[in-house]
Amino acid sequence: MVNVGILGATGMVGQRFIQLLDNHPDFEIKALAASSRSAGKKYEDATTWYLDEEMPESVRDIVVCETNPDDMDNDVDIVFSSLPTEFAAKVEKDFARDYVVASNASAHRMKKNIPLVIPEVNPQYLDMIDAQQKENDWDGFIVTNPNCSTIALTLTLKPIVDNFNLKSVRVSTMQAVSGAGYNGVPSMAIVDNLVPYIGSEEEKMESETLHLLGSFDGSKVVDADFNLSASCHRVPVIDGHTEAVFIELDDDFDIDDIKNTMSNFKALPQQLNLFSAPENPVIIKDEDDRPQPRMDRNAGNGMAVTVGRLRKDQAFDNSFKYVLVGHNTIRGAAGASILNAELINDKIL
Ligand SMILES: NC(=O)c1ccc[n+]([C@@H]2O[C@H](COP(=O)([O-])OP(=O)(O)OC[C@H]3O[C@@H](n4cnc5c(N)ncnc54)[C@H](OP(=O)(O)O)[C@@H]3O)[C@@H](O)[C@H]2O)c1
Repeated sequence: MVNVGILGATGMVGQRFIQLLDNHPDFEIKALAASSRSAGKKYEDATTWYLDEEMPESVRDIVVCETNPDDMDNDVDIVFSSLPTEFAAKVEKDFARDYVVASNASAHRMKKNIPLVIPEVNPQYLDMIDAQQKENDWDGFIVTNPNCSTIALTLTLKPIVDNFNLKSVRVSTMQAVSGAGYNGVPSMAIVDNLVPYIGSEEEKMESETLHLLGSFDGSKVVDADFNLSASCHRVPVIDGHTEAVFIELDDDFDIDDIKNTMSNFKALPQQLNLFSAPENPVIIKDEDDRPQPRMDRNAGNGMAVTVGRLRKDQAFDNSFKYVLVGHNTIRGAAGASILNAELINDKIL
């Protein structure tokens, strides 16, 4: 077994880590860390548990520690981070001296030699780790996963990029409130309403997607060469981001080829049979009224992205459009970090 710790363990993503790691075949939770408001308390007393599933018995009595490496159990090998970004920027580096840090926070996502990875999309970026350790003189390292709306979009774009000449992507998101954290969006702002702005989200979607779908030449990433424009919106849904995606290719195409390419898409995590890997990363629905967040966010245990309303776009040449739903705190956050850690455990540790 690999012993793991969770930073930000009491938060929305921290709770997902705990739920997904309960009964994991390779990882065992040994340490839970949060702010000094929670440190010193039993996890069950420190946490307002919000998930539908009960808090696992195995974590209830763990005493929450301070978020610094000196307070972390020495037996821990991998630290999952769901810290607020501003705090993660320093703390994750402190942990990387000795631990593998699998982070959800955006603090280190686009930094040189720090891999931003979706295992089905760009596992080769893990080759940056050697340079990262040498540059910083660390025994551990940091690996990051993308923003929640980026992961769902990029998983659907990967089979398209690999098989067609992609010219442009426009995406309009309808993002769940859990994406902003437990105290993120006041109910008075979102009930009976939507908010047409999520700070930095559009910039993250645009830059991270092109980075993930780019190429790594052994020393740096060259971004993918297509135009991408995102418009991001918060809607009164608890979990599950919905995105309307508009694609333009260089050439004419058959919509059934697009459909087959997406639904047949499999990659390294499926070949390696990693525990959290969905059998099909992209699931296509033919019903006119799918996907919907309540019905489709848990597809593939929350690790698959569901695509529907796939159709030719008659208004523009060589164009098609679709709607996707992905679970933002599972595939878009905790599940993404865990899949990264499973790949690292298989390939590196
Ligand atoms: N929610 C999503 O869908 C999603 C998706 C992708 C990425 N992320 C990223 O994941 C991170 C966590 O998001 P979240 O939604 O889980 O936030 P959250 O619900 O607000 O939880 C924040 C966690 O960080 C801890 N914390 C806050 N300030 C701290 C400090 N100064 N020192 C140590 N710990 C501190 C909190 O502990 P206390 O309970 O003790 O205050 C809590 O455990 C963020 O970087 C976010 O951008 C979130």
